[in-house]
Amino acid sequence: MIKRFVSLIFFLILIVVQLSAKEGMWIPVLLEKYNIEEMQDMGFKLSAKDIYDVNNASMKDAVVIFGRGCTGEIISNDGLLITNHHCGYRQIQSHSTIENDILTNGFWAMSRGEELQNPGLTVSFLEFMEDVSEKVFDNTEGLTEEDKDKIISKNIAKIQLEASENGKYKTQVKPLFYGNQYFLYVYKVYKDVRLVGAPPSAIGKFGGDTDNWMWPRHTGDFSLFRIYADKNNEPAEYSPDNVPYKPKRFFPISVKGTQPGDFTMVFGNPGSTTQYITSNEVSLILDQRDPDRIKIRDKKLAIIKADMEKSKKVRIQYSAKYASISNAWKKWQGEMLGLKRLDAVNKKIQFEKDFQNWAIENGVWNNTYQPVFEEFDEVYKEYAPYIQAADYYNEIVLRGIEVFSLASKTNKIINDIENKQTEKVTNSIGELLKSLPKFYKDYNQSTDEKLFTELLVVLANDLDSKYLPDDFIEIMEKYDNDKLLKKVYHKSILTNQDKLTELLHSEREDVLQSFRKDPVIRLFKSLNFHYEVEIKPKVDSLKKQIQDNMKVYMAGIMEMKSGQPLYADANLTLRVTYGKVEGYSPKDGIKYKHYTTLSGIMEKDNPEIYDYDVPDRLKELYHSKDFGIYEEDGKVPVCFTASNHTSGGNSGSPVVNANGELIGVNFDRCWEGTMSDIMFDPEMCRNISIDIRYALFIIDKFAGAGYLLDEMKIVK
Ligand code: ARG
Ligand code: GLU
Repeated sequence: MIKRFVSLIFFLILIVVQLSAKEGMWIPVLLEKYNIEEMQDMGFKLSAKDIYDVNNASMKDAVVIFGRGCTGEIISNDGLLITNHHCGYRQIQSHSTIENDILTNGFWAMSRGEELQNPGLTVSFLEFMEDVSEKVFDNTEGLTEEDKDKIISKNIAKIQLEASENGKYKTQVKPLFYGNQYFLYVYKVYKDVRLVGAPPSAIGKFGGDTDNWMWPRHTGDFSLFRIYADKNNEPAEYSPDNVPYKPKRFFPISVKGTQPGDFTMVFGNPGSTTQYITSNEVSLILDQRDPDRIKIRDKKLAIIKADMEKSKKVRIQYSAKYASISNAWKKWQGEMLGLKRLDAVNKKIQFEKDFQNWAIENGVWNNTYQPVFEEFDEVYKEYAPYIQAADYYNEIVLRGIEVFSLASKTNKIINDIENKQTEKVTNSIGELLKSLPKFYKDYNQSTDEKLFTELLVVLANDLDSKYLPDDFIEIMEKYDNDKLLKKVYHKSILTNQDKLTELLHSEREDVLQSFRKDPVIRLFKSLNFHYEVEIKPKVDSLKKQIQDNMKVYMAGIMEMKSGQPLYADANLTLRVTYGKVEGYSPKDGIKYKHYTTLSGIMEKDNPEIYDYDVPDRLKELYHSKDFGIYEEDGKVPVCFTASNHTSGGNSGSPVVNANGELIGVNFDRCWEGTMSDIMFDPEMCRNISIDIRYALFIIDKFAGAGYLLDEMKIVK
């Protein structure tokens, strides 16, 4: 009996080890130490050095940070890059007009000369990363926390400056484990990145926000760009003389397909996760922050959606804005469900008890950790109402009402003029002037009027008056929506591009006078001032207190778990996550397959619904079965799921097989697993990728841009 019991326990441990193998976002330079053995046991055929090597070309040289928050990978020797459609969305949208709506129709450069330039878009190659903890902590021993922070900042600045080699590289020193460790990241940033191809939204965003974060999924979420460099292959601003970038490495592409259980690895830049937060923070997110932000966004989305449905122009103007508001809104809802299902708060409490027991056993509870936990309890009580106010201001004042975003720029100009900062004024006026065409191209006054009135009502009703400026409360008590528009919104110069442009070209004194009496600018100024003075400093200092305590707690966790591999929270730097191709069971009685096919797109087809309106050309291909080398068992694979621990920022990441060949491009997570930024569940957490064969099928058969495949290395 005992023997059976022991072997049962052994078996259980094995399962746990096997399951938990998929959790974690690992630092490439530590793979050798922590992961490579397990990866190889799971089927990986390459070495840690094949993934990351400072001295030789390795996989990491083919992976970039795309724009500010996505990943992309190089797939040809001529700097061709693939990322998600939604990562290139702003660029694709910015090239779209009613006459030439490439968002709807797609875009394919049929020669290099037709590729479109994208001012402001960059891709960043990681040259190397390095543990610089020792240098960062240099000369900090024995200092007070405050002095320590100062020295640390100085040390960081010095390390970054040195590593930048006079501006040649972009350098960042980032904390890991709440500042128990520091890493230096050195990037080469390319600035001439051109759009090569994008499928129509009916493919690249098929299923739209309805299917977003969901499985089964049929989105062809990819787009193609090309990186250009100067004659020495170095970064340069856009120039017709630039030439395609020659990469150190690019990904070969496998069209061999995958089977359940096959090893997969995702290599990208997850943005931010919080795996080690306390039970206090989890309940704050679950009971307050997620519900608040969801509620405000419900409003925003309803307003924008109604107008988008009424007008094609508004649909183009607001599609990117809508998608981005909706994305987090939907994720928070999945996150709440997942946290509840996992009973996350109680799991955290249990972990904290285990931690306490460990600390007591080791004689470090009373002096070191007990005060930390007592402070958590206190700080969170104070923090909750302030972070609530901050969430409301963020969602409504700082990025909800569109004229407020202009007002925030004019506010800067007012301050600069008042402070007689002549040069700054010239710059800020210049910048505002430059941004106006783009702003007004995508601004629909009547939509913003509704955002303005309805969101301000929410702000006034939901927040305690303590968190609101008096003049705002007065206005809201005095005016109904109509009056609010008449007396405030309609009297503002910010709704009129021509007048505003003219004003910005006139005398500074006139600019100042006009801005000072503008009712929208005044209202913004008052709200913003209240936020900056009464709310933000308090939030910042409470956050700092939480962070400082987290640093101590984290050090304790690291000690408790010493000898075990531990991964740091994501910080938009290169991480490796590995798992296998597999479906999952979302609910009792349901089992999801790991892949979808073109047939599913036909099943969803509905010309009445924008998100499900399958292009005729795709239907033709489906019916003629013209699938080329991209089919498997007579069907074209579209998306697949795997158990890789990913997060926002992993969009566009290469998904590779055991040989390091590209089999997919990561673009999403499954609904039931969206709480993985806080707590991972091996049963439910799946990443969603577009099968690379679907991308090739679209490029080749749908778009007739098969010439692009000539520069790729396809493994059959
Ligand atoms: N959920 C994915 C991510 O977090 C895709 C978002 C873009 N798609 C959309 N329908 N909004 O970025
Ligand atoms: N779509 C996400 C992104 O833009 C990736 C999905 C996730 O959050 O895992 O990075």
